[in-house]
Amino acid sequence: MEEITALAKRRGFIFQSSEIYGGLGGFWDYGPLGAVMKRNVKNAWWRDTVELRDDVVAFDSSIIMHPATWEASGHVAAFHDVMVDCRVCKHRFRYDHLKDRARCPDCGSANAFTEPRNFSLMLRTSVGPMEDTSALAYLRPETAQGIFVNFKNVYQSSRKRPPFGIAQIGKAFRNEITPGNLTYRVREFEQAELEYFVPDDGKDMEVFREWVERRKAWYASYGVHQDRLRFYELKPEERPHYARAGVDVEYLFPWGWGELESIAHRGTYDLEAHMRLSGKDLRFFDETSKKHETPLLIESSAGIDRTMLTFLVDAYERETSVDPNGKATERTVLRLHPCIAPVQVAVFSLARNKPELVERARSIERDLRSHFRTQYDEGNIGQLYRRQDEIGTPFCVTVDYETLDDASVTVRERDAMRQERIGFEKLHEYLEERT
Ligand code: GAP
Repeated sequence: MEEITALAKRRGFIFQSSEIYGGLGGFWDYGPLGAVMKRNVKNAWWRDTVELRDDVVAFDSSIIMHPATWEASGHVAAFHDVMVDCRVCKHRFRYDHLKDRARCPDCGSANAFTEPRNFSLMLRTSVGPMEDTSALAYLRPETAQGIFVNFKNVYQSSRKRPPFGIAQIGKAFRNEITPGNLTYRVREFEQAELEYFVPDDGKDMEVFREWVERRKAWYASYGVHQDRLRFYELKPEERPHYARAGVDVEYLFPWGWGELESIAHRGTYDLEAHMRLSGKDLRFFDETSKKHETPLLIESSAGIDRTMLTFLVDAYERETSVDPNGKATERTVLRLHPCIAPVQVAVFSLARNKPELVERARSIERDLRSHFRTQYDEGNIGQLYRRQDEIGTPFCVTVDYETLDDASVTVRERDAMRQERIGFEKLHEYLEERT
């Protein structure tokens, strides 16, 4: 993780938030490459969950909602972790994370913990000119509730009836006791949530399984190592009381297995809770039973920051190759999927001071720019390759002296480091097939 954190900073993927002031725990900024990569992760999810289906509609709700939302959802009463403080070093820990409940993992003091107590994960703010309790509001800890309270607005305006889904990507906030592991556990993050509503006609578990399979296929299609990914079926005692089934998607990070996404069958719990507190009817009219029904809910809730971190960790490799003369060279490479990589094609001029080469390379890069995410660079070819390997660029195109005679370029592929000579007229097609 230290190596990946250093690379993420050096190459402009992830910076500590407000670093010049010493940073703020649990908050991170995405640099020029990180911002592009994160957008690619979101697009990949959105494409598969919304655009490629005719039964899922898009949504974008506000971060701050009426505080009653969080009473109905149960967050005000129960969204907390249990924490303890070490009386000696003053460090704070999540009680459920402590391996040894008698000895402080930081300073080693024995029996120095305070009594365990609840700590609300809800971040508060106030809305309007008054700062009294009537102005109290929360930054949403999940995007899902924005969908639930709008269920009726959405199905009426989009003329949908269950089975159908509502999807949203947006910021969520949790005042985590112990943020850590780069962007794995943070206080401000993005969620990609799909809420799929089904009639209570006995097919709900089938739909639940279909979503688990769809999400499995999604991770596999972006090349995540299958032996580092598991779909953990929650046992009845591990599920929240309202959940009828649950699968956690977990990845084997350098520090152990960590959750990326939770897929849950939430029954009628959420809509019923909002109907009770608001007094509004959120049921739909079921044409089969000719009755007003509360639909069942299947949820897939993924963290964008955790997914991006997974793609980075999973792609990271340091490899040593030995040339025919026995000389070993080491390189760091991010084997990112071409749809996720921030740069897809880098175009180089072999020399900085040869205007014909520079002009030709720049013109090729300009032509490719409207089809691929490109970058122009020039100089020492070894250094250029090393830099692009580190940021995960799948293809490098080099304009050299021969280019001026034979109208072709050298295309070097990141993973096998294979090089091919490709004519100008074939270049676009060659890259398109492979990205
Ligand atoms: N609506 C259901 C829900 O929010 P969750 O398991 O609490 O379920 C879903 O959260 C996902 O959101 C997690 O699997 C994780 O990827 C992401 N997530 C939750 N808390 C996070 C945090 N503190 N930092 C980064 N990602 C987080």
